[in-house]
Amino acid sequence: MLGIDFVEGAIREARRKAEERGLHAKFVPMDALMLSAHEGRFDSVIDSGLFHVFSDEDRARYVAGLAHVTKPGGRVFLMCFSDEEPGSQGPRRVSQKELRDLFEDGWAVEEIRPERFEVVPDLEDIAFSAGGPKAWLSVVRREG
Ligand SMILES: C[S@@+](CC[C@H](N)C(=O)[O-])C[C@H]1O[C@@H](n2cnc3c(N)ncnc32)[C@H](O)[C@@H]1O
Repeated sequence: MLGIDFVEGAIREARRKAEERGLHAKFVPMDALMLSAHEGRFDSVIDSGLFHVFSDEDRARYVAGLAHVTKPGGRVFLMCFSDEEPGSQGPRRVSQKELRDLFEDGWAVEEIRPERFEVVPDLEDIAFSAGGPKAWLSVVRREG
């Protein structure tokens, strides 16, 4: 299992949590927009809260990178802020159509279901829906 983030502090925190939970995982600092240059191929790719930080231009580059690292028949599990979350604080809201359009070629969108993000309890100056910000959890299979 490989985990990435381009912030060293996030990598350190992930390593600490994995050790605490007895999980065997490798975490490396990496720019997710450089996935197309990565040598590894994976059966499952999990994106929790990353996709929604990207600009429209970077989204396309990111999805091309996902296509590169996901084995044929493998799946991407992607959770992002939903356009059903009110307001504009926090990450960009994403519609189901945007997700379907981006994964139109070479992918099968198996499911997009409503979920909630869990946020840190001491979040200040920012308010989301009661129960946590509304999210879409997409399951997308790589064809080929
Ligand atoms: C909202 S946080 C989500 C954190 C965690 N995955 C979770 O579910 O709680 C977004 C994370 O994406 C990372 N990030 C943003 N752009 C990135 C990029 N281009 N490459 C790698 N990581 C990136 C940030 O450093 C941050 O840790």
